[in-house]
Amino acid sequence: MGDAALLYARGMKAFRASLLYFSDCQAVLEQDGLLVVGPDQAGRQIVQVVGSYQALAARYPDLVVEHLPGRMIAPGFVDMHIHYPQLDVIGSPADGLLPWLENYTFPHEKRFAAPEHNAEAAPFFVAELLRHGVTTALAFATSHPESVDALLGEAQKRGLRMIAGKVLMDQNAPDGVRDKTEQSLRDTEALINKWHGVDRLGYAITPRFVPSCSAAQLHGAGELAARYPDVWIQSHVAENTSEIAWVQQLYPEARSYLSVYEQFGLLRPRAVYAHCIHIDDEDRALMRATGAAAAVSPTSNLFLGSGFFDYVNADRVGFLYGLASDVGGGTSFSPFHTMLAAYYVGREGQTKPGVSLSPQRLWWQHTAGAAQALGLEGVVGNLLPGCEADFVVLNPQATPLLARKTAQAGSLDELLFALIVLGDDRVIERTVISQASLA
Ligand code: GUN
Ligand code: ZN
Repeated sequence: MGDAALLYARGMKAFRASLLYFSDCQAVLEQDGLLVVGPDQAGRQIVQVVGSYQALAARYPDLVVEHLPGRMIAPGFVDMHIHYPQLDVIGSPADGLLPWLENYTFPHEKRFAAPEHNAEAAPFFVAELLRHGVTTALAFATSHPESVDALLGEAQKRGLRMIAGKVLMDQNAPDGVRDKTEQSLRDTEALINKWHGVDRLGYAITPRFVPSCSAAQLHGAGELAARYPDVWIQSHVAENTSEIAWVQQLYPEARSYLSVYEQFGLLRPRAVYAHCIHIDDEDRALMRATGAAAAVSPTSNLFLGSGFFDYVNADRVGFLYGLASDVGGGTSFSPFHTMLAAYYVGREGQTKPGVSLSPQRLWWQHTAGAAQALGLEGVVGNLLPGCEADFVVLNPQATPLLARKTAQAGSLDELLFALIVLGDDRVIERTVISQASLA
C-alpha cells in the first residue's frame, strides 16, 4: 500500500490553512499549509504530516482535505498554572495576596466539598478552557479529593490533557478547606494511583504554599515526590512581599523561600512553581540545577500588585519557565490576554531597562515553551509530526479592527502581535483536541 492509501485507510484527517508551529524556539508560518492528523499505533491522534500544501498535496491524492481559507491553525495553548475552584474569584479586588486569599479565595474553595457544586463547576471550567483554545492545563483543585475527581473526570470526558492535584493545606487556613496531615497524604497517594497516566491525565502533588503546610505535610509531599518521580509537583513561591516575610518567620534558618521547598525534596523536573518574582540569582541557579520550572502569571501579578517576573535575569541564568493564567488571581482564561500582560511585564521589568519580548517568544512561552517546562516537549504545544493533535483554528478577521490590522501585517511578528494585542476568545474559531472536535 502506498503512502496515500495508508493514510486514507487509517482514517486520517487533513486541513489546509496557514499553519503556525515552532522549530526550536523559532516560529514558522506556512502560509498555505497542509496538516494531516491521524492515529498512532496506540490509537492516539497525532500530527502525521505538516508542511506546504503545494509540496505535499500531490503525495496524498485520496485524502479528503478540509480547506479553511483565511484561517490559521496553531498549537493548542498550554496553561501552566490555573485554579479550577477560582472560576468565580476572578476580579475580586484586595490589598494584595494574603487578604485576597482570606476574604475571597478560601470561602469560594469551601464550596467544592459539595458534589453538586463540582457537578456544575467542572464542566463549565473545562468548557471555558477549550473555548479559549487551551488544550493542556496544570491545575489546582481544592483540598477536597472530590474536586480532583470532578475536574479530571470532566477532562477525561472531553479528551483534554489535564494535570491536577488536591491542595495540601493543613495549617493557616479556615475550617472547611484545611485538611489533616496524615489523611491528606493518604488521599494524595490514592489520587495518584487513581488518575496519573490514565488516558491523557496526570497528577500533581500540590502543597499550596509554605505558610499553609506544616513541616510534616511538606515532608510527606517530598516523600511522595520521590516515590512517584513522573508525577508533577505544583506550588507557589515568592509572589508577594508579605508572604515572603511570613515564610521568613516560619523558617528563619532558610536561605530563601525557594530553599524551603528544596529542603523538603520538592524541587525537581516536573516541579512547577507559580510566580518566582522576588527571587535572587542563587534561587535562579537552584531552579536551573534542579530542573524545576516557573509558571509566569502576569495578569495575576498585575491584578494583585505582586510584582514583575524578571525576564532578563531568568534568561541570563537560564531556567525553565512558561506562561500561565493563574485564574482567579489572574483575570482571564485568554492566552492572548496573558501574552499581552507578559509583554507589559517584560517592558516594565525588574531589571531596568525592561525587554521588549517578541510576539514569537510570547507565543512560544504559552505553547511549545510551556510544554517543555512541563516535561511534555514533543508531546503537546507544537504541530510537528508525532505531537498529539491538539490545535486551534484562529480567525484573524474575528473583529473589524483585527481584520483591518492583520490585513496590513507585513511580517509574522506583525501578524502575531496584532493577534496578541487585539485577540481574545472571538479569535478561537475551533479547538480540536486529540480525540474530539469542538465546533
Ligand atoms: N498563594 C497561595 N495560594 C494562592 C492562590 O490561590 N493564588 C495565588 N495567586 N497565590 C497563592
Ligand atoms: Zn496560583
